[in-house]
Amino acid sequence: MKFFIDTANLHQIQQAYDLGILDGVTTNPSLMAKENIKGEKAIYQHYKTICEIVPGDVSAEVFATDYEGIIREAELLADIADNIVVKVPMIKEGIRAIRYLTNQGIRTNCTLIFSAGQAILAAKAGATYVSPFIGRIDDTNWDGMDLIEQIVNIYANYGTPTEVLAASIRNPLHIIRSFELGADVVTCPLDSILGLLKHPLTDIGLSKFLADAEKTKA
Ligand code: E4P
Repeated sequence: MKFFIDTANLHQIQQAYDLGILDGVTTNPSLMAKENIKGEKAIYQHYKTICEIVPGDVSAEVFATDYEGIIREAELLADIADNIVVKVPMIKEGIRAIRYLTNQGIRTNCTLIFSAGQAILAAKAGATYVSPFIGRIDDTNWDGMDLIEQIVNIYANYGTPTEVLAASIRNPLHIIRSFELGADVVTCPLDSILGLLKHPLTDIGLSKFLADAEKTKA
């Protein structure tokens, strides 16, 4: 049961790490753009900083979509730090690249997974992680959780080592359901992680304990 944070924001990454529950980080080009990180040098430096904050796996996504381009970027990214996992899109060239990178000992996260068939191909190519996008499936009136369950079951049938990384998490319930169904990892925004803390009875109970504690003061 591993928690990754899904952001490129250093402050949020540090906050989640300081909580003591963080196992890794995922990013994507949209999250890097949101932090206004521009240019290959700045992007690579940003990944280096993230890897220095978090010792666990840090997914860094390639921008290329052709085989040679994916390999070139993946090798550069993998050189940044030992805990980099190269994120590769679920396309034909991506699957070929994942097979090559796996053979070279470079770990990968196959992203943009929306079907069990895609997850099967990614596992066969040797991906370290597959990232099914729950929230985006929910947005299309399908249940993203059905996909998590399906992939978990298929991988279990064959003892497939590829880990199921539930992505596109939008709320705390997505986290709970993903773990309930056997996802190995959940990557989520900080708000969703902190949302797990909340329960009104905890707040009511704590207020009562604090009020009673006052009564015990000499
Ligand atoms: C994670 O690896 C994905 O990039 C991310 O979870 C996508 O989330 P979104 O659908 O909220 O953009």
